[in-house]
Amino acid sequence: MMKKILLAIGVLVALVLIGAGTAMGVATHKLNKTYDYVALPNITRDSSPEGIARGEQVFRAVCGECHAGGGNTKPVGGRMHDFPAELGTFYSANITSDMEKGVGAWTDQEIARMVINGIDKSHHFRPMPPFPNMGDKDVAAVIGFMRSGHPDFAPEKQQPPRSELTPPGRMAFAFAMGINDKGRTEPVPVPVKAADSVEYGRYLASSVYDCTFCHSPGLESSAVKMQHPETLLSGGFEFDLVPLGGEGKLLSPNITPSETAGIGKWTLDEFKHSMVSGITPGGFILRPPMPKYRYADDVELAALYTFLRSMKPNDKVVPPPTGGRPKAEPSAEPEKMFSSLGCATCHAPGKAYEAKLQGAKGKAPEEVAKWIRNPESFKPGTQMPTYEALVDENNALALAKYVLGRTGGSVSEGTTP
Ligand code: HEC
Ligand code: HEC
Ligand code: HEC
Repeated sequence: MMKKILLAIGVLVALVLIGAGTAMGVATHKLNKTYDYVALPNITRDSSPEGIARGEQVFRAVCGECHAGGGNTKPVGGRMHDFPAELGTFYSANITSDMEKGVGAWTDQEIARMVINGIDKSHHFRPMPPFPNMGDKDVAAVIGFMRSGHPDFAPEKQQPPRSELTPPGRMAFAFAMGINDKGRTEPVPVPVKAADSVEYGRYLASSVYDCTFCHSPGLESSAVKMQHPETLLSGGFEFDLVPLGGEGKLLSPNITPSETAGIGKWTLDEFKHSMVSGITPGGFILRPPMPKYRYADDVELAALYTFLRSMKPNDKVVPPPTGGRPKAEPSAEPEKMFSSLGCATCHAPGKAYEAKLQGAKGKAPEEVAKWIRNPESFKPGTQMPTYEALVDENNALALAKYVLGRTGGSVSEGTTP
């Protein structure tokens, strides 16, 4: 599940800086008040075949990351383990079409306002980072998909508890990334989709996929970060790896076209491959919270690249993460590969996807080997990287047997048990 609000150490610092007492009072007030004055946007579901297809693309890449987790494709909500404990205990909501536990009884406009403003049917703020600049057409498409009769949205009765914010979490949502109380009265257009469109790429990066939030320093929303071209996408947003089962800190990389500090040397194909497969041209594994954009199409990826290329190179060097970056290096011994290929960064005890390895239990080694090389052919949106280019069939089989040997017990971090 997603990760977007992952711990930014900065929150705690902000708490001290703002002057705790009064600010906390203001925060609590902002979080609890009734936002009935925020206009419902004039947006109705787009139920055309194109609308539903587009809605599925956005929903699976963005909403599903938080609302449908744990290997589930149904958006029944659940505990979001990779949210930092310092900000609270987070649960995403059931957004199936159940009339009571889901959003079956919400109008299209109410869902649209939740997406744009983070304000629910009863006019209260919910701790979800909103999408204030997502275009009307894309919001309408998402709702079109949610209301398309797709089996994933069939009513489900389970209901996760509400999220509970700690004081720093309250501060973070009240002042930095949460509440947007500007009702949308004018339509917000989606730029024309084209591979060479800087504008479309900018829209995707800042208003849909939110690359700008994670890849620019500070806790402010993307809308604020867009006003600061001098730091935009220059990296340095601090993630604490501890909630993800790692150690130390990970600063998001600089993705401006700087040849020394950013991704200026990457070709379009290298960029596309990294975004979808999760492995960079240099052989580094892209760990969570960096998503894999398996649902993005070629035109979207090219537009993102066009936009990134249009930016001024920023030569600010981001320090490497504590412990270095995991680099994909195949070796013949399975337990060594498990660590050198970065499997351990997700599957070792305490890591984000420790439990997922159990999915292999009872399967034939040949089947598991196929999964390891092309997990997306089994689970289209999976966050597991595509290892095909790094692991041949023999190595994959050896790894599969190793993994299967471990599914009964615990998996050690790439060393002999
Ligand atoms: C970063 C994680 C995240 C993303 C991305 C996200 N949500 Fe949410 N969503 C949440 C959380 C957390 C809540 C609030 C749960 C609570 O109140 O404790 C929520 C609440 C909601 C609710 C209110 C449900 C209810 O029963 O009250 C709706 C509707 C919703 N989200 C729809 C969406 C849609 C549509 C998208 C995609 C455009 C989306 N969400 C993207 C995390 C997310
Ligand atoms: C939730 C936060 C988050 C979001 C959203 C996000 N990224 Fe990332 N991204 C990261 C982190 C963290 C890393 C470093 C991962 C690692 O080293 O294991 C990363 C790595 C990368 C890299 C590799 C850079 C390098 O030098 O190796 C590229 C390229 C990239 N992201 C582009 C994007 C683009 C484009 C988007 C939007 C479409 C995006 N990211 C959205 C957090 C994010
Ligand atoms: C970035 C995180 C990540 C990395 C790195 C990673 N995986 Fe996974 N893996 C996952 C996720 C997530 C799943 C669960 C699939 C899902 O729900 O999307 C998974 C599932 C699996 C499964 C279960 C398959 C099944 O049939 O259910 C196996 C086996 C597996 N991974 C092996 C590996 C091996 C071997 C490596 C290294 C070569 C590796 N993984 C690297 C994230 C990762």
